[in-house]
Amino acid sequence: MFQINENYLKLPGSYLFSTIGKKVNAFMAANPDKKVIRLGIGDVTLPLAPAIIDAMHKAVDEMGSSDTFRGYAPDLGYEFLRSAIVKNDYNARGVDIAVDEIFVSDGAKSDSGNIGEIFGKNNKIAVCDPVYPVYVDSNAMEGRTGEYIAAQEKWSNVIYMPCTAENNFAPELPTETPDMIYLCFPNNPTGATITKDELQKWVDYALKVGAVIIYDAAYEAYISEENVPHTIYECEGAKACAIELRSFSKNAGFTGTRLGFTVVPKELKCGDVSLNALWARRHGTKFNGAPYIIQRAGEAVYSEAGKAQTKEQIAYYMNNAKVIREGLKDAGFTVFGGVNAPYIWLKTPDKMTSWEFFDYLLEKVNIVGTPGSGFGPSGEGYFRLTAFGSYENTLAAIERIKNM
Ligand code: MLT
Repeated sequence: MFQINENYLKLPGSYLFSTIGKKVNAFMAANPDKKVIRLGIGDVTLPLAPAIIDAMHKAVDEMGSSDTFRGYAPDLGYEFLRSAIVKNDYNARGVDIAVDEIFVSDGAKSDSGNIGEIFGKNNKIAVCDPVYPVYVDSNAMEGRTGEYIAAQEKWSNVIYMPCTAENNFAPELPTETPDMIYLCFPNNPTGATITKDELQKWVDYALKVGAVIIYDAAYEAYISEENVPHTIYECEGAKACAIELRSFSKNAGFTGTRLGFTVVPKELKCGDVSLNALWARRHGTKFNGAPYIIQRAGEAVYSEAGKAQTKEQIAYYMNNAKVIREGLKDAGFTVFGGVNAPYIWLKTPDKMTSWEFFDYLLEKVNIVGTPGSGFGPSGEGYFRLTAFGSYENTLAAIERIKNM
């Protein structure tokens, strides 16, 4: 008789955003007359920018002609896209990354879930609390997190680094030594950032204890303040201890078209073993490359027109963030984030739990947000709203909250 991966049986409930989706769909089915505004999952709403669409059209035409048709993409990504990434995301910031350190993929969610495959089962992970649930759940699936302790909403073998208003949502170096450290800045879900000096402390720590940092920089394009690092490789020594995950979803609206990349520097080694070679081996075996049409679309993000148009989209979302932040403050809420990130993190009112406030908002004013406790126990008593809605819906949502 075959056996299953029993680690899956340890996972509590369903994936956070699936649970929310089910709840919202049930509410809408029972209340078909209500106009629900969704500010829950961080999904973009603006259409792809014209420069990106033009590049996709051109690539579609190429696929229809025998002279320019392309079959399997190179597993690690087309040279034209990898070079554009190196030039614009790294060299332009004074960071030296080579083309063969870039691995193009179908998105940062897949990469953050898959990256654990190249690491030993006995590694201990450290995560921020609250945290993007994929890091923890994917490690649980691989058997690295111990047992789930329902009463504490924690795994027995994970180092949780609380990020709350008391520490400005910046994790402190753990007292127990981890092997793998997941960091995400600008942060999902709190919208917090750390300075370059603070990030340098993490790099120094990882080098000292022999840990690897998995650095998720999916929200890098939303940084508006000086001295917030756009890539971990701005820190000295990071190429010897950090993998960086990047996405085209939030900076250019690719949530539906899927494109991302991971940087694995050649200096990053475990003994003599190069992690770059391991990830290349994994990619070559299990991935046939992101589609040509989408990689051409990704290249267009870095064209002059693409840069200008995506910058305007980010400004649009950040204006929504301001509307939410200021509106909630006026309504008496305690609010964080929304300055270098498209997420606003608020304290629930009247000591409500995160899920109580979720139900209250949905039922009273028909607004969907994300309960903070869904991201981890330290998220209890907090709530996340996203700036990715339309301006009109964002304004309407804040008016409803002010009048509730
Ligand atoms: C979120 O809402 O946290 C994000 O949309 C999740 C993701 O990017 O996968």
